[in-house]
Amino acid sequence: MSKELIKEVKINFLKTFKTEPLLVFSPGRINIIGEHTDYNGGFVFPAAVDKGIAAALQKSDSGHCTAIALDLDSRIEFELAKIKPSKEGSWENYVFGVVAEIQNRNKIIGDFNIIFKGNIPGGAGMSSSAALENSVVFGLNELFDLGLTKTEMILISQKAEHNYVGVKCGIMDQYASMFGKKNNALLLDCRTIKAKPYKINFKDHQLLLINTNVKHSLSDSAYNDRRSACESIAKLLKVETLREVSEEDLEQIIDKVTPENYQKALYVIQEIERTQKAAKAIQNNDLDKLGALIYASHNGLQHQYKVSCDELDFLVDQAKKNKNVLGARMMGGGFGGCTINLIAKSEAKSFSESVAKAYKNKFNKECSVYFVTLSDGTHLVK
Ligand code: GLA
Repeated sequence: MSKELIKEVKINFLKTFKTEPLLVFSPGRINIIGEHTDYNGGFVFPAAVDKGIAAALQKSDSGHCTAIALDLDSRIEFELAKIKPSKEGSWENYVFGVVAEIQNRNKIIGDFNIIFKGNIPGGAGMSSSAALENSVVFGLNELFDLGLTKTEMILISQKAEHNYVGVKCGIMDQYASMFGKKNNALLLDCRTIKAKPYKINFKDHQLLLINTNVKHSLSDSAYNDRRSACESIAKLLKVETLREVSEEDLEQIIDKVTPENYQKALYVIQEIERTQKAAKAIQNNDLDKLGALIYASHNGLQHQYKVSCDELDFLVDQAKKNKNVLGARMMGGGFGGCTINLIAKSEAKSFSESVAKAYKNKFNKECSVYFVTLSDGTHLVK
């Protein structure tokens, strides 16, 4: 599927700019468990998938840069010396942000043209934004021989998101998209930005995504609010991040925080623990245990961290009613997007059909089902 995407982007580039482009594919990600823990210095467990962003780029001698978002049929011309954030919510900010952050590091780039297109829906909680940022930084690094390491590149992508898109995201999405490894999920320690790959073979089970088709917008202050609530509690406890804190530590300041924020911090502490337990469960091939941890994660996201929505909760409730689903939870930032389900392979089709029907009945709209393969991270396409 992504092969066709790459071909389409390439053909368009040749037609528009009459030169052979450099081709980059940058994947989206799933996350098995470990939500809203990355910006708390905790553990996450993501994997890159076979869907993402294909980008074609080349140097330009027109005296300016051109960027084209093929899916949106939108084109913009800009000058490198005059980069500034565009209006909130516009796709240019992902490109401008990366360019600005490269320039901030005193790396010199020249004019360039870029055309890109994706096959993960935006707002699905699968990090189309990180995929786009990474495709831009990776492509520019190649094109202008910037000598950036992959770690430097993801930090540039993350800063682009902070400063141009306005979401104070953690490092999970950019890391997973850049460093993804075929057939593996990555247990990433966000304190050190180092990951351990885990081969994923659930034998007669598989991961299945169901998209509520409710589009979240993370720049909705809700995400940034969660982050600053966590940071203020860490500050009260005189630590860098909530990663350093135990449930007992948190109890010491119970009188100094609101009950809502207390629950949020408690969720983070527990989710970091669950993520480490999940890695053990995978190692021991204990899928029942893994499934239970995944359900517990959703419970925390719904009731303690409060980043779910009715549609996501409904999909998880449907999963709970079916004994062939070992675990299900919302995935990504929340307020919409996908659930991730650990389900018996033989039942995946019939479950997704019956859930789709129930979802339609309840909300009078469609959900979408995705089967994904765990794949390699951002790379050049030859
Ligand atoms: C978004 C952010 C990530 C992470 C998740 C929640 O995807 O970009 O950094 O915080 O939400 O786990």
